[in-house]
Amino acid sequence: MIGTLCIFMLLSSTAAWGSVGLWSQRGVRNGTGGGSRDRCTCDAFLPSSTFPNRDLVVVEETAVEISHQLEHEMGKLEDYETKLTAYAERIIQLTVEIEKIEKNPHDYNDADMDEVKVEIKQVEALVKELQLSIASSTTVFESLHEQITAMVETLDRMEKTYDKNMVLVTRREYIKVQMELEECERRHQELFNPNIGSCAHSGIIRVSKPIVSQLNAHLNSGYKFGGWGKDSKPVPDRESMYWYSGSTSSSIFEIKFYTSYKNLILRNQFQHHNLQSGWSGTANNFIVRDNTLYYQINSPFGLAKLNFTTLEYESRVIAKASNRFSYTNTPNQNFDFAADETGLWVTYATEESSGLMVIAKINETSFGVEEEWQTSVYKPGVSNAFMVCGVLYAARRVDFETEEIFYKYDTRTKQESHISVLFKKFQDNFSNLDFNPTDQRLYMYNDGYYVSYHLWFNHTTKATVAPPFLLTS
Ligand SMILES: *[C@@H]1O[C@H](CO)[C@@H](O)[C@H](O)[C@H]1NC(C)=O
Ligand SMILES: *[C@@H]1O[C@H](CO)[C@@H](O)[C@H](O)[C@H]1NC(C)=O
Ligand SMILES: *[C@@H]1O[C@H](CO)[C@@H](O)[C@H](O)[C@H]1NC(C)=O
Ligand SMILES: *[C@@H]1O[C@H](CO)[C@@H](O)[C@H](O)[C@H]1NC(C)=O
Ligand SMILES: *[C@@H]1O[C@H](CO)[C@@H](O)[C@H](O)[C@H]1NC(C)=O
Repeated sequence: MIGTLCIFMLLSSTAAWGSVGLWSQRGVRNGTGGGSRDRCTCDAFLPSSTFPNRDLVVVEETAVEISHQLEHEMGKLEDYETKLTAYAERIIQLTVEIEKIEKNPHDYNDADMDEVKVEIKQVEALVKELQLSIASSTTVFESLHEQITAMVETLDRMEKTYDKNMVLVTRREYIKVQMELEECERRHQELFNPNIGSCAHSGIIRVSKPIVSQLNAHLNSGYKFGGWGKDSKPVPDRESMYWYSGSTSSSIFEIKFYTSYKNLILRNQFQHHNLQSGWSGTANNFIVRDNTLYYQINSPFGLAKLNFTTLEYESRVIAKASNRFSYTNTPNQNFDFAADETGLWVTYATEESSGLMVIAKINETSFGVEEEWQTSVYKPGVSNAFMVCGVLYAARRVDFETEEIFYKYDTRTKQESHISVLFKKFQDNFSNLDFNPTDQRLYMYNDGYYVSYHLWFNHTTKATVAPPFLLTS
């Protein structure tokens, strides 16, 4: 009779870093007796302190790997920039030559013309090649974001379970990588779209994959209601400031400010304001603009603002606005503030229209409504909405990981249309989605996670920096 044969390996904590994964799958023999050569499965429970070590090593290795890939991408971007400049110069030269030929056609023969034509074809081919190379970077960035997202989850999980100080070292490393990626992407995006603040486009055509920064500053996924982002019209010296406000219910009692993205991630706030009693808010589609918080209050039911420069509160009632219509999946979201290249907006639904959304432009000086536009989109069928260049974009839930921008209303032309721009979420529900005109990003508070997106627009006019050919075709 063959007895149970279990091999226990005594693993030093160093050895355990890389081998826990293997070890847990390594059944040796199952010795249930009877001479059978059954296998014995041994579950190895290592001292818990070694677990985060292994996770940390994985995260650290990933960070190094991403860092290398980024260096490579950065090198490529520099190359693209050099090439673009050279091509742009060549195009200018060719244009001058063509103009000369047009003015004095008799001074040139067919051979001269053919030479110019061949050169144009050559530049065209080079540009096509460059476009393909740039497009391939986008795929690389998407995969890097996916890797970083997995790291965020690991770090958040570890921080909740294990020694925070140990995790902090890795988190700093990961922030460095994340900032490198953002810098790389910023330069990549500038090649495509150098015109932040410009409205020379006919709308959004694509939304990037979600960029997951991390779990909220409460380190608690129960804080599902809230928002985060940047001031859309920052006061001097606060251009790099981030804000966060989260809650376990659809309300707002407090807000935290961070001097930079790094401090947001490290949760080093430099200011923490509790809203005065009687001035707390009842929804989560608030924004920060001109160092002022714009949000919804219940008594009187309407709009409120708190200017952090003066610490003064103000409120306004919009008589027609109803408190019966909210967004899908998030209660009490009756007023949704938004800011874009053209100013400050708020949207709401009315009884008169049985729940259809109304867009209102807010005068930032008087805090009054300047103008209103009636849309034909039913608010409870919308998961959230935001404004870009005076155009309202409404999103709806497709499934737990997908969202669709399905409707837009242009306040300049009073034209509405149905569109379909799909994008992914990190978690199912979100309580705040807003565009920020200072960086052309979308900010989402996604079941407690800080998530953001890059946007691509359909450019209608030639950009001033990048050569026009990159923006057409
Ligand atoms: C070990 O033996 C038991 C009983 O025969 C069986 O249920 C189990 O699946 C076996 N495990 C492995 C890993 O073979
Ligand atoms: C906030 O207060 C400052 C100082 O009085 C003022 O300059 C600014 O316009 C105010 N901002 C808003 C949005 O009320
Ligand atoms: C999203 O919100 C709805 C409504 O509150 C809820 O029924 C659903 O379970 C939420 N989804 C998740 C994954 O929490
Ligand atoms: C905004 O309000 C201020 C102060 O009431 C007023 O002077 C200004 O004309 C208003 N702007 C617009 C565009 O209505
Ligand atoms: C971009 O705009 C052009 C011209 O207005 C239009 O023909 C084209 O369909 C648009 N592209 C997308 C993806 O919407």
